[in-house]
Amino acid sequence: MKNIILLAAAAAALTASAKGDAVTVTLAPNPDAPMIPKEIYGQFAEHLGTCIYGGIWVGPESSIPNTDGYRNDVLGAMRELQVPVLRWPGGCFADEYHWMDGIGPKENRPRMVNNNWGGTVEDNSFGTNEFFNLCELIGCEPYLSGNVGSGTVAELAQWVEYITAEDGPMAKLRKQNGREKPWHLKYLGVGNESWGCGGNFVPEYYANVYRRYQTYCRDFDGNHLYKIASGASDYDYNWTEVMMKNAGRLMNGISLHYYTVTGWSGSKGAATKFDTDDYYWTLGKCLEIEDVVKKHCDIMDKYDPKCNVNLLVDEWGTWWDEEPGTVPGHLYQQNTMRDAMVAALSLNVFHKFTKRVSMTNIAQFANVLQSMVLTKDDQMVLTPTYYVFKMYVPHQNAQFVPLSTNSGYRQVEGGRLVPNVSATASTKDGQYTISLVNVDLDNTQDINIPLSALGKKNMTVAGEILTCTNIDDYNDFGSEKISVAPFNGAKISNGNLTLTMPAKSIITLILK
Ligand code: AHR
Repeated sequence: MKNIILLAAAAAALTASAKGDAVTVTLAPNPDAPMIPKEIYGQFAEHLGTCIYGGIWVGPESSIPNTDGYRNDVLGAMRELQVPVLRWPGGCFADEYHWMDGIGPKENRPRMVNNNWGGTVEDNSFGTNEFFNLCELIGCEPYLSGNVGSGTVAELAQWVEYITAEDGPMAKLRKQNGREKPWHLKYLGVGNESWGCGGNFVPEYYANVYRRYQTYCRDFDGNHLYKIASGASDYDYNWTEVMMKNAGRLMNGISLHYYTVTGWSGSKGAATKFDTDDYYWTLGKCLEIEDVVKKHCDIMDKYDPKCNVNLLVDEWGTWWDEEPGTVPGHLYQQNTMRDAMVAALSLNVFHKFTKRVSMTNIAQFANVLQSMVLTKDDQMVLTPTYYVFKMYVPHQNAQFVPLSTNSGYRQVEGGRLVPNVSATASTKDGQYTISLVNVDLDNTQDINIPLSALGKKNMTVAGEILTCTNIDDYNDFGSEKISVAPFNGAKISNGNLTLTMPAKSIITLILK
């Protein structure tokens, strides 16, 4: 059997390298298909490098245009993306963060060393009030990552009380700090990477710790917490197994972290300098997330066949070497069209698993890893990844439309298969959104999409395209090479939608 699979894969790879016949995308709308929760488009902002300080928050006294201390340009970008949920304050930072240091008058807030990220001194000027007010300002759900590694149960329990209680000692403290009404808090992470920077626990021990912590994180005054256990990294299926077995009934979700990275030691490669093999390797590694998610879901199915517990991929994206000349430990990296491809392919995968996967959070919003925006002083650039998220907004809270394609594949180093064309579709309010990715660096792809299954006559189509001259093009301050443009090349005739995708392009089509 194994040989047959290998032969089939080899045959597929053979058909892949040159431009072939038109790729047919067959849509199979299903009224029972799950919704794509808007939280699949979640973001992450950690106290790391210039993600918070400089990237999102400049303080009300800054000469950089801001609203109550939040950069206006970045607020605009967050609103454009309709950011549904924002994870904070880490990451690894979360397990060293003591929330009481970040409340009250700024001049009284103690400083700390950010040990995980370059030893930078943190002045705690962005704390709980600043985070929750930001979420209210942009209309997104806050996702709080609690300190388990170096904190206490009481500390986390009191944080929840400070944020959500109408009355009592913590509410009194909040009121003294200028916030009368409680905020709303749904998503509560109980630790982060508890197998690593979050405490180096073994899963059996962490499962017990999780059980204890979640007991004391209460629902106050109509607020209802959705409790998330710190989950596995990549291929650590045993972590999911033990957690589901020992604590599954006490959680609403468990996380998974998966980075598109060459490895954890040595050079990870430059964000902007790579060859053709590196490019396709990256896409293969990115697409492997499908198998990883599936295997974690299979384990969860065993313990939770009714899907009461969700899987949250609350950190994902590319991880390259830091840009030369930037502060070590701040994880500042550029973002090319290769990163845009990773974003689109990953989102296409997540759409297929929303029965179990209810949230994902790309790392991170500003100036860290696969960012949406890069900032320098008063300037901001939108990255190619930002544009993918922008083009995919119509998929938020739309119903998934199952589909298949007959795209050829290319076999890349490590034996992974990368399709030439990846597609995803959804429907909302009578509109269909189809997103297509042509990963091929050299060849256009003719696409044919029969529309009969949609059962609608006289449909119209409009489109947007993200493409580039060179795959390593990127946007920098004063030189923006990549941005989304209208795409008018899709035609509907005799019930078929046809288009030719340029090499290395991402297209979203809206059909009405
Ligand atoms: O996103 C950067 C870091 O990656 C996070 O702090 C940590 O959780 C992960 O290892």
